[in-house]
Amino acid sequence: MDKFKKDFPILMSRDVVYLDSGATSQKPASVIDAINNYYNNHNSNPHRGAYSLSIEATKAYEDGRAKVAKFINSPSASQIIFTKNASEALNIIAYSYGLDNLKENDEVVLSIMEHHSNLVPWQYVTKKTKSNLKYMYINDNYEITDEEIEEKITNKTKIVGITHVSNVLGTINNVKKVIDIAHKNGAVVVLDVSQSIPHMKVDVQDLDADFIAFSGHKMFAPLGIGVLYGKKELLDNMTPFLMGGDMIEYVYEQETTFAPLPNKFEAGTQNVGGVVGLSAAIDYIESIGYDNIEKHEKELVKYAKEKLEKLEYVKLYMTKNKENHSAVISFNIKGVHPHDVASILDSQNVCVRSGNHCAQPLMRYLGIDSTCRASFCIYNTKEDVDKLVLAIEKAYKMFEKYIVK
Ligand code: ALA
Repeated sequence: MDKFKKDFPILMSRDVVYLDSGATSQKPASVIDAINNYYNNHNSNPHRGAYSLSIEATKAYEDGRAKVAKFINSPSASQIIFTKNASEALNIIAYSYGLDNLKENDEVVLSIMEHHSNLVPWQYVTKKTKSNLKYMYINDNYEITDEEIEEKITNKTKIVGITHVSNVLGTINNVKKVIDIAHKNGAVVVLDVSQSIPHMKVDVQDLDADFIAFSGHKMFAPLGIGVLYGKKELLDNMTPFLMGGDMIEYVYEQETTFAPLPNKFEAGTQNVGGVVGLSAAIDYIESIGYDNIEKHEKELVKYAKEKLEKLEYVKLYMTKNKENHSAVISFNIKGVHPHDVASILDSQNVCVRSGNHCAQPLMRYLGIDSTCRASFCIYNTKEDVDKLVLAIEKAYKMFEKYIVK
């Protein structure tokens, strides 16, 4: 038994090889216990009650904010806005920043590997503001080159949206280069770190990131909690997108003044249980250390890649440059639909995602509709990879006679 797997109760009770952590990670006992403890002993509505339980809930929530700030090296806790997930964070940026700051003929530049969450809102906002949407494309090695970055980001560019790690290809983008070129052209960068932060350190000051967004549930926290970080001067000047309880200062019949950061972006009752779980998830990551996480996952991906490359009927969609690749391997059995492959894998208790992975423009650019995707995490083992490979061999044998070559 691998030393990390035992931390995850579901992996002890269910006989599955879980290779879909890119969609959502499993949760360690420490996170589940922290959420239970909150609901068993401290639950109430934060920020609103003068009684002890409410003060405890407020403290748990604000302690969580301070923990996230330290975790990503935010200059202040007030720059951490809790959302329900990365999609909500990205929509807040598009609506609150994009709608007010884009004008006719300005450009928004995205990477072609964006998840729909960092793409569809920009389609809406560019149409509304009559600005233009452009893309940075990938080369044959599934990477965005420096030349492509330099060509697409120009002095017309006002916003650049890029994922740190592709949820389909596993490519780690050169986001420092993107941010540098964007800033030289006076543009702000919206960085989606949902697929990187479970696996590698994200330091917002080192990156000089303008905005970042991520979901907690891919990094061991529960579903329903996400984070938006922004530079203070950007957030201060934005009009909130979601309005209602607790985000106001004074409300008159016709006018409202908004609360200062971070509250002005957090309308409605806050997800304290989610923040408690996210805090425990950060503790879990820090107890292992990103160095160990990366070492473990890189070894697994290398092992899986070597085994999968030996299967001549399998096509892999990943860069050859292992330094630029994270913990995701997309693949297809040539001539077999990925949903069929994933169903056979499921019959062998191997969980992979199949489909377009919320990245249809990327799929179209690659000339395919879908892939199977194995995504790895700290709790996976070489034995899991062996089971994946055996299951793929079995799927191939079942479909071989129907494949049109
Ligand atoms: N965005 C998640 C994924 O890539 C759901 O699977």
